[in-house]
Amino acid sequence: MTDFVASRAFDRDEPDTAGSSPSVAYPPLAASDTLSIETVTRVHHWNAHLFSFAISRPPAFRFRSGEFVMIGLQGENRPLLRAYSIASPAYADELEFLSIKVADGALTSRLQGIEAGDGLYLGRKPTGTLVTDALLGGSRLFLLATGTGLAPFLSLVRDPDIYERFGQIVLVHSARQVSDLAWREQLESHLADDPLVRDAALLQFHYVPTVTREPFRTQGRIAALTEDGRLFDGVSGPRRLDPATDRVMLCGSMAMNRDFAARLQLLGFVEGSNATPGHFVLERAFVG
Ligand SMILES: Cc1cc2nc3c(=O)[nH]c(=O)nc-3n(C[C@H](O)[C@H](O)[C@H](O)COP(=O)(O)OP(=O)(O)OC[C@H]3O[C@@H](n4cnc5c(N)ncnc54)[C@H](O)[C@@H]3O)c2cc1C
Ligand SMILES: NC(=O)c1ccc[n+]([C@@H]2O[C@H](COP(=O)([O-])OP(=O)(O)OC[C@H]3O[C@@H](n4cnc5c(N)ncnc54)[C@H](OP(=O)(O)O)[C@@H]3O)[C@@H](O)[C@H]2O)c1
Repeated sequence: MTDFVASRAFDRDEPDTAGSSPSVAYPPLAASDTLSIETVTRVHHWNAHLFSFAISRPPAFRFRSGEFVMIGLQGENRPLLRAYSIASPAYADELEFLSIKVADGALTSRLQGIEAGDGLYLGRKPTGTLVTDALLGGSRLFLLATGTGLAPFLSLVRDPDIYERFGQIVLVHSARQVSDLAWREQLESHLADDPLVRDAALLQFHYVPTVTREPFRTQGRIAALTEDGRLFDGVSGPRRLDPATDRVMLCGSMAMNRDFAARLQLLGFVEGSNATPGHFVLERAFVG
């Protein structure tokens, strides 16, 4: 199992509770060896606890689809940074992110108020394990997300390379409410608005949204869909996960990652890494 102790340390700059106080006047952003200052170009609020935003992309900023990067605002004494998966495709001019709004969260209590034109810190070194380099070849790629764990997969499904490497791409997004199903329209359209992948996606991409706390056409957690076979509706091949043919990427809460990884290991799936590719990879959508 991947050890996230290092990424957790990387994720925090405790203690800095400056984010929760609206009356504090923060010093201006200051670029450094590790951080650039970018400009917010768009903000979209999906509902009361979920929003997305795009920022300018430095010309030298490179990342692999599925990676995350540190972003943030200025705190009272130093930058207040958090890890964020990049939701935009690697070829896009801007960098887009999907964010939770944690009411008393040090960063997101302030971040949810950003507007076009505002400045934001961007780390210079993206990283992560949800990359196809960490997977062996296979015929079906299952991308299993809960909540904001959708973000890295939004980048991956718009990467033309994965349609060359895998015959079918199945994106499963489990959310509490229908309004949490961010980008649902684009995903249901088989990415019709993306000229680079739409032809391949029409034939190879499957989107399976599922909602757990209100009525929807598909209900239940991802494990339930796997067990009763609904995960495989419309997908060719066996109605079960098989390490001989299938590759899996997991991005969700610690509990979801742990439970599903254990399930995969029982089926004979071996976790991969950048150094040693395997049958599945995982990354936390958040710490806590
Ligand atoms: C590798 C990695 C990638 C991440 N990518 C994203 C991303 O793309 N989008 C995003 O919104 N967050 C992401 N996070 C979480 C993010 O780093 C912050 O935790 C989040 O922005 C909240 O920051 P905060 O300071 O407001 O609250 P924090 O003090 O960081 O968190 C407070 C509590 O809120 C809950 N929480 C935090 N983030 C989430 C979340 N995303 N979904 C549900 N509950 C959450 C947890 O219970 C946490 O203990 C990622 C975390 C990691 C480790
Ligand atoms: N999303 C909302 O509507 C909402 C509203 C108000 C506040 N919030 C706050 O936002 C935080 C994050 O909420 P979230 O909805 O983004 O994330 P979440 O609670 O992790 O739920 C996202 C999805 O993951 C499923 N899930 C949770 N644990 C799982 C596990 N162990 N295995 C498999 N699936 C699992 C959930 O199913 P279940 O529904 O069955 O748990 C849901 O479908 C919460 O702590 C909450 O305080 C969220």
